[in-house]
Amino acid sequence: MTKNESDDGIALWGGRFSSGPSPELAKLSKSTQFDWILADDDIAGSRAHARALGRAGHLSADELTRMEAALDELQRRVDSGEFAPIEADEDEATALERGLLDIAGDELGGKLRAGRSRNDQIACLIRMWLRRHSRTIAGLLLNLVEALIDQSKKAGHTAMPGRTHMQHAQPVLLAHQLMAHAWPLLRDVQRLSDWDARADASPYGSGALAGNTLGLDPQQVATELGFSRVTDNSIDGTSSRDVVAEFAFVAAMIGVDLSRMSEEIIIWNTQEFAFVKLDDAYSTGSSIMPQKKNPDIAELTRGKAGRMIGDLTGLLATLKGLPTAYARDLQEDKEAVFDQVGQLETILPAFTGMVRTMVFDDKRLEEEAPTGFALATDIAEWLVKKGVPFRHAHELSGACVKLAESRGVELWDLTDDDFATTFAQFLPADVSPQVREVLSTQGSVDSRKGKGGTAYVRVQEQIAAAQDAVDAASAFASSTSDGSAYKPTGSLN
Ligand code: ARG
Repeated sequence: MTKNESDDGIALWGGRFSSGPSPELAKLSKSTQFDWILADDDIAGSRAHARALGRAGHLSADELTRMEAALDELQRRVDSGEFAPIEADEDEATALERGLLDIAGDELGGKLRAGRSRNDQIACLIRMWLRRHSRTIAGLLLNLVEALIDQSKKAGHTAMPGRTHMQHAQPVLLAHQLMAHAWPLLRDVQRLSDWDARADASPYGSGALAGNTLGLDPQQVATELGFSRVTDNSIDGTSSRDVVAEFAFVAAMIGVDLSRMSEEIIIWNTQEFAFVKLDDAYSTGSSIMPQKKNPDIAELTRGKAGRMIGDLTGLLATLKGLPTAYARDLQEDKEAVFDQVGQLETILPAFTGMVRTMVFDDKRLEEEAPTGFALATDIAEWLVKKGVPFRHAHELSGACVKLAESRGVELWDLTDDDFATTFAQFLPADVSPQVREVLSTQGSVDSRKGKGGTAYVRVQEQIAAAQDAVDAASAFASSTSDGSAYKPTGSLN
């Protein structure tokens, strides 16, 4: 027993110490309350490392067989809850070593630590954990995109007021507005899979910082753990966390994208807008006001986006100014992304349920679509098609708006005479009233038929393209990153 081992716990260090850690230090140093979720990945790493030790001649075939059996038993105990961290365990690695020594004995169990450090281990485990959850989150995002696609298909030709600066701007299809939220989410999925390509390098074998002396084959370990390659620099492998920070950015961005959509749904769901009704199963009530039905899913999502941004900025601040090679500050990387992943995996299923079940008031959306002089641009562009320079067309259309506003009517309520008089300098009196042909929501929407525009045909193409993107991205969501595609041969070679 080394100096700092309590009766129950073990320590992974202590030979040069004359006393154990103070209780205050032990409390500060302990991380099992959050890093125990890495236990499965740690055991998988230990299995691969044991085989590397075997191949390099540091474990005999018999020892390796017994070591693998002990690790299987440890995994069984972890799964059943029979084995868990105790107060004295500093971190998940310490706890698992205690568990292994208990099963395999000091002699054999004590051999596993050769040639590795918690520094290369932890840098590897966080990648394994994040790579797995990036796939889960991608799958949940794709479900949400599909819910938006379904709602967009259902929305058909329904138009609504498109807004800029929150003011009525031009009519757009409801489907177009909904799909404007699908594309950022698809890019988020792409960001996750782009990130994964950079995360796909194993730091195992880097040791504490300088590499190992034992002739271990890090590529074989990497392959067994689902990585296609090994990090190129052992200092970089153990001490950089840009891979974690980049994940944290993508997670924060997903939070922001969901929050933008939340804000829209919250506004649409107000009595004044009344564009959408949320399903009872996806809204909440008030403890005092019996009539209330609140959009809590959207509000919680909007709120949690704030803390997910905080997770990212906190992590970046931790990383700034660290010396190059492992420092204990790096332990702080985990809670930030564990929190983000926990939030996203809770938010997304609820959010998707809300989107899938919300019901739009098509009639109201259609009624509101052209109001607020939303067809003024159409008048200007109609005039351009008649040969009027846009600068003047803009002025003439503005004059129509001014006239209608002074009378408290909409543009289509102006008389033929009104149009003839307003456009007199540029068009013959019998031509001017033909402007009415663009003074309809459908005319306005259908005329925006350039690529990416709100015309019905373009929106249908857009929906099909998004569906193709979902199908392509689902390969990433359903792929494995845990090395299970790799089948060990059972031999040492
Ligand atoms: N628990 C640490 C972390 O999460 C790993 C242990 C490294 N400890 C050390 N003394 N080098 O980063």
